[in-house]
Amino acid sequence: MYPIKEVRALNNEVTKMVVEALQISKKIKPGQFIMLRIDEVGERIPLTMNEADPVAGTVTIIFQAVGATTKQLAKMKAGDTLLDFAGPFGNPTQLEGAKRVAVIGGGLGTAIAYPQAKFLYEQGAMVDVITGFRTKDLILLEDEINAHSTSQIIMTDDGSNGNQGLVTEALQRRIDEGANYDLVLAVGPVIMMKFVAALTKKYGIKTYVSMNPLMIDGTGMCGGCRVKVGDGYKHACVDGPDFDGHLVDYDDAMRRGASYRSFENVANDAVDAADAAAAVDAAAAEHECLIGRGK
Ligand code: NAD
Ligand code: FES
Repeated sequence: MYPIKEVRALNNEVTKMVVEALQISKKIKPGQFIMLRIDEVGERIPLTMNEADPVAGTVTIIFQAVGATTKQLAKMKAGDTLLDFAGPFGNPTQLEGAKRVAVIGGGLGTAIAYPQAKFLYEQGAMVDVITGFRTKDLILLEDEINAHSTSQIIMTDDGSNGNQGLVTEALQRRIDEGANYDLVLAVGPVIMMKFVAALTKKYGIKTYVSMNPLMIDGTGMCGGCRVKVGDGYKHACVDGPDFDGHLVDYDDAMRRGASYRSFENVANDAVDAADAAAAVDAAAAEHECLIGRGK
């Protein structure tokens, strides 16, 4: 059992949770994720680490309450326990050696971009962080990023923070101003990563994107997390989650993401009806159905 030490709503959609997990806190690195299960009838979900404190023995996750399990998770309190909290999974982001970096966070992806920026900044790199949110009430980790970056630009789609535009517009401006990046990291919606990668490709800037497909087992067995990279498919859980942003087939990733949406809706409805077991069964059945159809 893994005790929850702290739960805090960061805004209407996003929750921060600190979990006691000593062994993982000592090993996990930026870019890696954990798989958690709330109880014996719950599904396993992957969540990328936001922060790890090996002294306190804690791992922090930040998640959006959008699916059946994350909605249930957001209702938990400090003192509750999680049945499983396993990891680290996936490969750490390759951050060594970069000197001038732009770290791009889109919405919730900012929670994952933050430890990458922090690591790079602590290694002595110049780190410009560019984040984008739909509106100012959704802005995440502004103070934390300010403390661990060379500069921070926050964009909003509606301009409510006085800085309207997409993250790609801010990145283009930085490049036009002469920022000579040797690495760009992008974490956020697939469509955002697609356009960040298209921009950096024009300038030949090495770019990693963090892919976030549906994951079931996190061990390379189920095939649910396949991502088309170059000529073949890779498993985000064991080969990623970071991939060369110039090789990822984003349209294929969006198509696969959309094909799983129906089972998420079934699971959500079941949870709303306080029937978590039915949600898991429905999700598993639909998942098998999709795998069976070779999706
Ligand atoms: P969002 O849809 O509000 O988008 C956030 C920002 O991304 C926007 O403000 C904008 O600046 C940028 N963006 C969006 N579309 C763009 C485009 N076409 N061109 C350039 N920039 C664009 O994000 P949200 O609602 O917070 O959703 C978070 C998303 O991030 C979800 O889709 C979730 O699956 C994904 N996510 C990904 C990871 C990952 O590891 N890749 C992790 C967590 C969340
Ligand atoms: Fe099953 Fe990656 S989550 S293969």
